[in-house]
Amino acid sequence: MKRTHHCNELRPEHAGQSVTLAGWVHSRRDLGGVLFIDLRDREGRTQTVLDPSDLPKELFEQASKLHSESVISINGKVRVRPAGTENTKIPTGQVEVLVKELTILNHAEVLPFPVDDPEIANKVNEELRLKYRYLDLRRPEMTRNLRLRSKVAIATRSFMDEQGFLEIETPTLFKSTPEGAREFLVPNRREPGTFYALPQSPQQFKQILMVSGVEKYFQLARCYRDEDLRADRQPEFTQVDIEMSFIDREDIYNLIEGLLKRVWKTALNIDVPTPFKRISFEEALNRYGIDKPDTRFGMELVDFTEDFRSSTFKVFSGAIASGGVVKAMNVKGLADATQGQLETMTDYAKSFGAKGLAYIKVEKGEWKSPIVKFFTDAEKAALTEKLKIEEGDLILFAADQWLNACEILGKIRLYCADVLKSKGLLKIDPTRFDFLWVIEFPLLGFDRELNRWYSSHHPFTAPVAEDIPLLKTEPKKVRGQHYDIVVNGVELGGGSIRIHQPDVQKTVFEEILQIPPEEVQSRFGYMLEAFKYGAPPHGGIALGFDRLCAILCGTTSIRDVIAFPKTAKGTDMMTDSPASVSPRQLRDLHIEVKAAPKKE
Ligand code: AMO
Ligand code: AMP
Repeated sequence: MKRTHHCNELRPEHAGQSVTLAGWVHSRRDLGGVLFIDLRDREGRTQTVLDPSDLPKELFEQASKLHSESVISINGKVRVRPAGTENTKIPTGQVEVLVKELTILNHAEVLPFPVDDPEIANKVNEELRLKYRYLDLRRPEMTRNLRLRSKVAIATRSFMDEQGFLEIETPTLFKSTPEGAREFLVPNRREPGTFYALPQSPQQFKQILMVSGVEKYFQLARCYRDEDLRADRQPEFTQVDIEMSFIDREDIYNLIEGLLKRVWKTALNIDVPTPFKRISFEEALNRYGIDKPDTRFGMELVDFTEDFRSSTFKVFSGAIASGGVVKAMNVKGLADATQGQLETMTDYAKSFGAKGLAYIKVEKGEWKSPIVKFFTDAEKAALTEKLKIEEGDLILFAADQWLNACEILGKIRLYCADVLKSKGLLKIDPTRFDFLWVIEFPLLGFDRELNRWYSSHHPFTAPVAEDIPLLKTEPKKVRGQHYDIVVNGVELGGGSIRIHQPDVQKTVFEEILQIPPEEVQSRFGYMLEAFKYGAPPHGGIALGFDRLCAILCGTTSIRDVIAFPKTAKGTDMMTDSPASVSPRQLRDLHIEVKAAPKKE
């Protein structure tokens, strides 16, 4: 029996037609000897009616015992449901199919969890959902996510094609170039002790493609990073990876704004206004305490360094005297923060090395705080004016080195936003998307432990041209031609204009990043050589495709938009991977394992 319709198609105008449907038993009810089976397929649901007089006795009996999620196909006649029995919740709710023939294609056993409950995600432990991912994916929300992901991938490809980009695959058996995240290694059977590495991104290949004269490359590239996993990080994930020649930053901004406009229109039918706002790294930190600000709400950080420079409150004036700053933030309506909430915030501050978190609660016309007794009237007036202090406010302070002070309050700002949301004091329109380019990042950061500079983005990022003379004298001041695209506080992607001159790249590797010349040669020698044979100026970007889909699907976990994701421990619950291998395989790979795997 070949199906004639999907389960979302039948309407009253089909009445009288003979149709064949196939799918899963969504639910089964026995009403006075007549069976009602809701049949579900990828597209929807249709009610079918099984009358014992229409079917062989044995088959009817089997049908009356079918478990949910068994697979059947039916042939029967469409009829309009009797008045009063329509189901207005589903598009086929006005009709039903009176079954004349039934084939049971597969009996389902009782499921580990029901798939017809919209609250499953909240009720069933995620590990169980991942172990039975094929069942989890039958849920309409998950099906919707997979469909949307497919749609976005196709929209991306057609947009990039229209813009003249070539889709080119790059190897996933690559070479270890320890930079950034830890890598996954693949042992090489042919030469003991040598390894491939899975690429963290196609960065080097895409730059080489520019040397090849491709000019416009893109790829939906699978990337691998062995890092600590969170809701927005998986060990393998997908990037929309892009590289272009003979361009500047504006060309990338334009391209990505166009792409995201197309994607939002295709996926959500939302017209995204362009160009996107831009904010410098420094301003983002100053105002929001983070380099990926969520600008859908205010609660901005305010600087009080000058107001407290000679304060008698030593925590503040002391921090300023040692080159730091005092920053504060007004959380409207949270004067009734609980002790537990204040402790959580203080712990955030302490995790950045601060001794504590000063606060003021404005309650019953009074400033309740262990520290106001130290404040002069002028200091209080400055606070009142700049923070617009009113009844019900909670004022929080960070006195520390600039970056730390910003980051402490930045972290607490996001925490407070969640608290306010849960109390109904902060409402964010779910259809609002605040896109933002974060620009003018410092090219380098300093690692105090290792006592050396590291690349904020990656070592191929070009310095802003006018800052090049500072590279050797004041590396801290050098800005990179790096940009991040942020939406609603999520870092969606990042990229840069690259260094295309072999001598500048060599200086960055050897003199700035202090990588020994032999190591530069063994790791990046091929690239430096390629750049000697005609490298065009180029730049690019990579968008996290899983994050993009998660935002469009309105979920905070990228696991919800990946068909077969891994747990926070990097396990695939369904296939039980990673797993041990046979001694023979190990022998072939010349590998000896020292510790036996722990069995849980
Ligand atoms: P970057 O490392 O910033 O840049 O990565 C680009 C984007 O990829 C996404 N992403 C991830 N998504 C899921 N799980 C992960 N573990 C993960 N790690 C990163 C993020 C991030 O913004 N080669 C450069 C790009 C370039 O310079 O062109 C790169 O990989 O959304
Ligand atoms: P102390 O004098 O160390 O007891 O600190 C007085 C108040 O300042 C306490 O409420 C501390 O939590 C707070 N405090 C301490 N260090 C900092 C800091 N770096 N930034 C903001 N507040 C702080």
